[in-house]
Amino acid sequence: MCGIYGYIGKLNAFDEVYSGLKMLQYRGYDSCGIAYFNDGFKIEKATGTLNNLKKPTEKSEIAFGHTRWATNGRVNYENTHPHVSYNGEFVVVHNGIIDNADELRQNLKVDFKSETDTEVIVNLLATLPGETDSRILQLFDLLKGSYALIIGTKGGTIYLLKKFNPLNLLINSDGIYISSDISSLKSGSLYTLNDYDAIKIENGEIINLRGEEIPLIDYTNDIKKLALGNFEHFMEKEIYETPRAIFGTYNYLEEQNNNIKKIFKPFKKLTFIGCGTAYHSCLVGLELLKDLNFEMDAHLASNYEINKPISKNHLHIIVSQSGETADCIKVAESIKAHKGKLLVITNEGRSTITRCADYVLLTKAEKEIAVASTKTYSCQVFTFAYIANKLKNENQDLDIQKLVNNLNEYLTGLNVKPLAKELKNLDKLILVGKDIDYITLLEASLKIREIDYVYTLPMYSGELKHGTLSLIDENSYVLTLNTSENKNKLKTVINEITSRGGNVVECEINLPQNQIQPCFKPIFNILPFQLLSYQIALEKGLNPDMPRNLAKSVTVE
Ligand code: F6R
Repeated sequence: MCGIYGYIGKLNAFDEVYSGLKMLQYRGYDSCGIAYFNDGFKIEKATGTLNNLKKPTEKSEIAFGHTRWATNGRVNYENTHPHVSYNGEFVVVHNGIIDNADELRQNLKVDFKSETDTEVIVNLLATLPGETDSRILQLFDLLKGSYALIIGTKGGTIYLLKKFNPLNLLINSDGIYISSDISSLKSGSLYTLNDYDAIKIENGEIINLRGEEIPLIDYTNDIKKLALGNFEHFMEKEIYETPRAIFGTYNYLEEQNNNIKKIFKPFKKLTFIGCGTAYHSCLVGLELLKDLNFEMDAHLASNYEINKPISKNHLHIIVSQSGETADCIKVAESIKAHKGKLLVITNEGRSTITRCADYVLLTKAEKEIAVASTKTYSCQVFTFAYIANKLKNENQDLDIQKLVNNLNEYLTGLNVKPLAKELKNLDKLILVGKDIDYITLLEASLKIREIDYVYTLPMYSGELKHGTLSLIDENSYVLTLNTSENKNKLKTVINEITSRGGNVVECEINLPQNQIQPCFKPIFNILPFQLLSYQIALEKGLNPDMPRNLAKSVTVE
């Protein structure tokens, strides 16, 4: 994971990199550092977020930096990037994982200061024979694994290397920018590096060491400055942006109109794939499309392998908010290798996964900053509801304005604060429901684990008596959800819990009076739980935008 950002130009390079990294903190925020050039590279680094980083007084025209999500080595100052070679010749920041780092480390007869695989890269480079350009190229043969690297030499030359992890270069009138995420770049002429690209930037000149051209395309970043406005956190803001995000997604899907039928027409089998929250939206997708006579299944990307030829009737659908999730990209590449057809549903139209796709459908949720997915989940569910309607020819019933008004009204009326206060001291919570409510609770459970550090156990209501009831005592809390018409459905389960002394919180989901089409109900149903996890975090004094140990985009397998 991790975010890397660089700048070479006439502006204050440290400041440019600092603000670039701010936009990349969603990729990791357990430590950060910036190398800036002023008669050799100097380094500032700190554990924690960029707020902890000291800004130097001296100016520089070259700088690059890193915001970390620890994979190799604990979170501490020594393991924080940038890393410098033992002889001071090279400085590096790295996104990715070097699989043969231990073996390389053993063969390098130098003193290491950190536990990282990144320090192995820079020390390996420093010990290689030959001119710098050829030493840089040798890295592709010697390093196994995945990497996007910015390497600086003590003379101020910058090298960029890419294998599997994304890296972009952008030129505009202010200078040259480098970033692991396009959306953090300003407007200008853009080059997205290909695997095995090695680019050298020296005295303002940009050279591809492989001798190939660097084809630039015009890039306009129209993302509005992301500000909290009247909200305290991005998570809260993003939950309240759900109606607008759904409206944007609807308008986009309407423009695709006949495309949707065309995409699905040749296929008899659908396989849905995602991770975490996106996987839960796949499960909702299975439910919403179940009357359409497709053969269907859903899988976690990290647990899906293709080991036989893919039939031409079979469409794979990968759902990924970021489009950068390594587990999803691995599956996408495998689908391509097996000549299968792939539809990607993502919020990031220029993301890595879209390059593997035969068809792309975008969710138009705008940027999501908080680590927990909220509005993007709702847009993914909406996309499946829209597809189901379109394929059933029921789109004429979709009154988007009414849906958006209902969502706004519903969100405004929700008050989960009392429940958050009641639950704030819990360290365990069981959540029970049936059918599609169970899927909502899978997602609710993930949110409460992720943001509030509460151990949650989502269960099918009927399963409780087959073992898990033994957990129930007077200290247990069980939250139930029943949105079906039959209000008696969970009665027995509730009795089973209360008669053993357990506490039951029955979640009342009171949908707006106006009739809601059943396919949109999962969007309404998740909102109180998203808000609940947010409020519990506030009650516990936690930062809901940046839960511990996590990062928004999981770019390692
Ligand atoms: C949880 C959450 C994660 C992501 C998962 C997949 O709130 O956001 O579970 O859903 O890491 O990420 P994407 O959708 O970017 O592939």
